[in-house]
Amino acid sequence: MSKSTSAATHGVNTRLAHTGHDPKSFHGFVNPPVVHASTVLFPDAATMVSRDQKYTYGTHGTPTTDALNAAFNELEGSAGSVAVPSGLAAVTLPFLAVLNAGDHLLVVDSVYSPTRNFCAGMLARFGVETTYYDPLIGADIESLMRPNTKLVHTEAPGSNTFEMQDIPAIAEVAHAHGALVSIDNTWATPLFFRPLEHGVDISIHAATKYPAGHSDILIGTVSANKQAWPAVHKAFGMLGICAAPDDSYMTLRGLRTMGVRLARHQESALAIARALEDMPGVARVLHPALESFPGHDIWKRDFCGSSGIFSIVLDVADPARHQAKAHAFLNALEIFGLGYSWGGYESLAVHANLSDRTIALPPKEGPVIRLQIGLEDVADLMADIDRALAAAKAA
Ligand SMILES: Cc1ncc(COP(=O)(O)O)c(C=O)c1O
Repeated sequence: MSKSTSAATHGVNTRLAHTGHDPKSFHGFVNPPVVHASTVLFPDAATMVSRDQKYTYGTHGTPTTDALNAAFNELEGSAGSVAVPSGLAAVTLPFLAVLNAGDHLLVVDSVYSPTRNFCAGMLARFGVETTYYDPLIGADIESLMRPNTKLVHTEAPGSNTFEMQDIPAIAEVAHAHGALVSIDNTWATPLFFRPLEHGVDISIHAATKYPAGHSDILIGTVSANKQAWPAVHKAFGMLGICAAPDDSYMTLRGLRTMGVRLARHQESALAIARALEDMPGVARVLHPALESFPGHDIWKRDFCGSSGIFSIVLDVADPARHQAKAHAFLNALEIFGLGYSWGGYESLAVHANLSDRTIALPPKEGPVIRLQIGLEDVADLMADIDRALAAAKAA
């Protein structure tokens, strides 16, 4: 499909089927070429110096990464996107792009844990101070802003416990103080939340999850608005953290089916989450699309869908029994795999480790089990969870 101006009016699955690559640009092939490249030749010495040609070196981009980046620009509504070798690299690139020694960074306390490791283990060494804030803070983030606060990092919903954040309120305050706002938008994908339309400057994805979708690729994307793009692009060029050609191609391929996969993830996860709300042995279900969830109103206001990962809190009064009960639950599962990551076609479960939280403290009622609901049949998954709850009860 040519990149007609009407593309924005098409339905999401139409856009996903055709975004990123224009077949007319490459002999009519419906998919872009997978370009493996370090060296790119120049026609003459003068061009070699001026670099006045579209491609100059493999790390700076190829027709394959361009196709993926164009797709993310369309989906996120961004001025520019880059693909990097993992979701974690995508989280850290904006920090490296925007922050200088002596700067202050605000990070939500329900953040993906390795993001916290990066702040403590690397940014601190380079003289950047990080303060963690309550995911429910909203406009009160004003009280944490300092003259040297340069970036507010958000993640909505939060990792493992799924707290929602009032992103527009936070962005308004951050901008009034001259700070940029970044978001880890992995849970929602750009199909269910478009952060740049809600005041965010830089939106990142662990495209490892739903975009790639098959638990076989590590890749991340960083999409920025006009204001933040020059810094992101410059840092990307300096760091040399370019996604590999095959992974970029496979992620673009994954995007073609992401809409239909997400519809299924959403429907199955919601059905299971609703069933678990009334289940003995389950104290609480942490899923933003459930009416009972504290951040539900914000989810309803800003998001247009929910993906396939949520958590349950097992009803275990004695904290000393949390781990044994959680392990009994996990060990009884036959279909759910025990593994990290999510967004693939298969269901996974993990006992969430929330020990690094300082503000968004772990639920008191019992251990938190995170469930990634895959594409299997809901009845089979429910039977598996029933088995696991019975085992936890008996433990
Ligand atoms: C919210 C979130 N962001 C980022 C990442 C990192 O992605 P990757 O595994 O591709 O490094 C993950 C991985 O689990 C994640 O859950």
